[in-house]
Amino acid sequence: MRKSCGLNSGPGRPFNDRRWLLPFLASLLVSVTLFLAAACGLFSPPYLAGDDAFLVDVVSFTDWDDGGAPSQRDSGQSVEPEAKDQLLDDNDNPDNAAVNSDDSDAEPPRLAYLLEGTKGDGLRMRRVLQAIYHPRNQYILHLDLEAPPRERIDLAMYVKGDPMFSQVGNVRVIAKGNLVTYKGPTMVACTLHAVAILLKEGLEWDWFINLSASDYPLMTQDDILHVFSSLPRNLNFIEHMQISGWKRIQRAKPIVLDPGLYLLKKFDLSTTPERRELPTSFKLYTGSAWIMLTKSFLEYCIWGWDNLPRTLLIWS
Ligand SMILES: *[C@@H]1O[C@H](CO)[C@@H](O)[C@H](O)[C@H]1NC(C)=O
Repeated sequence: MRKSCGLNSGPGRPFNDRRWLLPFLASLLVSVTLFLAAACGLFSPPYLAGDDAFLVDVVSFTDWDDGGAPSQRDSGQSVEPEAKDQLLDDNDNPDNAAVNSDDSDAEPPRLAYLLEGTKGDGLRMRRVLQAIYHPRNQYILHLDLEAPPRERIDLAMYVKGDPMFSQVGNVRVIAKGNLVTYKGPTMVACTLHAVAILLKEGLEWDWFINLSASDYPLMTQDDILHVFSSLPRNLNFIEHMQISGWKRIQRAKPIVLDPGLYLLKKFDLSTTPERRELPTSFKLYTGSAWIMLTKSFLEYCIWGWDNLPRTLLIWS
């Protein structure tokens, strides 16, 4: 290579022309080396070497999407057994079969919904109920104490008068409303109450979802049940972040008073000037209000030996 370049800049050229030759040759050499290295695949993508999370994604794609692209299969092959183990470890349960098999033969799950509303929400609750209704599911409707008895009776009559609801018998209206303060312990108490009813009545369901009258589904129940039919029934869906720093002090230390516990009219939550100690036996989290919880987890919440609901109520 050197030689041919030397020939190009033949002896007849003026001397000062040659000053650029050395840097030029050096950079040419470096570029050619880099080019060859790239062409021979010396620099493989870094994510294939290190990042486990990415590998799991690749493997799950090839596993579930039978007949994945061959090139993807090749690149993932050497790590597949390891990542597969990891996947199996994560959901160590008999429902794995359902994950890996074609979902057409898996039985669709049943969902249990709690629909909460307050004064003036009667019509909106009917609207949501119609949108999320499916004969496989269970529904509990709670209009809180702020709503006049008339509104609650109207809602109950509407449910009773609907031929579908009354024939299937899967919609319940809580006859005696409780006062519920948004974000307060009375809200958690109301949720736990509804779960307790579902468990006590021995109803069949796999996941619990609580909604308020202002929610509206983006998918039909048929689609939702279809999607969830291929998932292990022991997955809880909770979006959460750990509370830390000033937020932990500001959110968790004040003692919260819920007027819903001792008044008959709605007021916002209030706090006392006194501070409480942070818990030491568990961590505090914050997160989305939209959750989907498994029946087994809620059985533990309601029937568990360590009185979880009371702890939840204190720290909510
Ligand atoms: C569901 O219930 C929890 C606990 O009571 C509550 O914090 C949350 O806001 C509720 N979510 C909705 C969408 O109402």
